[in-house]
Amino acid sequence: MEAQLKNIKIEKSKTTKINEVDFDNLAFGSVYSDHMLVCDYKNGAWETPEIMPYQPITLDPAAKIFHYGQSIFEGMKAYKDSSGATWLFRPKNNHKRLNISARRLAIPEIPEEIFMEGLTTLLRLEKDWIPSNPGSSLYIRPFILASGNGFHASPADEYKFIICCAPSGAYFSGKVKVLIEEKYSRSANGGVGYAKAGGNYAGQFYPTQLAVKKGYNQVIWTDDNTHEYIEEAGAMNIFIRINDTLITGPTSDRILDGITRKSILEIAEDEGIQTEVRKITVTEVVRAAKSGALKEMFGAGTAAVVSPISTFGHKGVDYDLPELQDNFASLLKKRITDIQYNRAEDKFGWRYKV
Ligand code: COI
Repeated sequence: MEAQLKNIKIEKSKTTKINEVDFDNLAFGSVYSDHMLVCDYKNGAWETPEIMPYQPITLDPAAKIFHYGQSIFEGMKAYKDSSGATWLFRPKNNHKRLNISARRLAIPEIPEEIFMEGLTTLLRLEKDWIPSNPGSSLYIRPFILASGNGFHASPADEYKFIICCAPSGAYFSGKVKVLIEEKYSRSANGGVGYAKAGGNYAGQFYPTQLAVKKGYNQVIWTDDNTHEYIEEAGAMNIFIRINDTLITGPTSDRILDGITRKSILEIAEDEGIQTEVRKITVTEVVRAAKSGALKEMFGAGTAAVVSPISTFGHKGVDYDLPELQDNFASLLKKRITDIQYNRAEDKFGWRYKV
């Protein structure tokens, strides 16, 4: 069936896969909802978006995404509250950041109305795919890829903006043990570390595989020059609590401006927690671990929300973090998820009704 809603063309799927999904045992991002949004960029302009049944896309083998990795993405979630209403969390920040990434990768920026109207129209259609089990949500993956052809190493002339959705459970299960990286780096000054470019993540896989072989789950990224400054945790921003101060590194060319990161900072301040946005060194963290001043370390990002680190490894030594009853990670995770799932007042105005 084809219908026209505002300026978005909708072709509904004749079948649904929803009954095949075990909503009580959801992994992260491995099953996809019935529909997706596709919007093409051709002849210098973004065309009318289309919502269609979820399906493979056809690309020419010479498409520049395959050769030069010209692609960017965002990570978002849709939450269902107890009355069945759907909410997003600070979605315009994702739109802005997608365009920051687009500029850095020489990709044409996507207009806000295509992003926001495309997203909300898709989510209204996929309402039944938003899980209501605690800790579950509909993970949303908006992305842009270079579909234009050519082996010439220059920006493509055609692109696809796509949004897919995956009902998802927790990103991590169990304790997270991390290794402080001393050789590889995920970003450098003047590079693309601040952008959500696909290649930033591909570049992490090999060092992470090496860390996994040594018994860790993730890598703590340090600066490319000295490996002395702590920058990110796997695909997340990192927070470190020394005594009662919560510290995270300043955003830069090398550190992603995480939406969860900045929300956690605001909530922590609202809770009266002392926060510091400053460079933090490996030496300081190891010293704090040895003296007992290191209380918590956790990753923060859309997918994993707040992910406590149980142990960090550095130069062959493992340092276990204490298991505190009143920890900042649980408090901050509760505050942010209560806003996201509409369980608490949203004094910051971050919730967005779909
Ligand atoms: C997110 O937290 O949404 C991310 O972008 C991490 C992703 C690589 C799973």
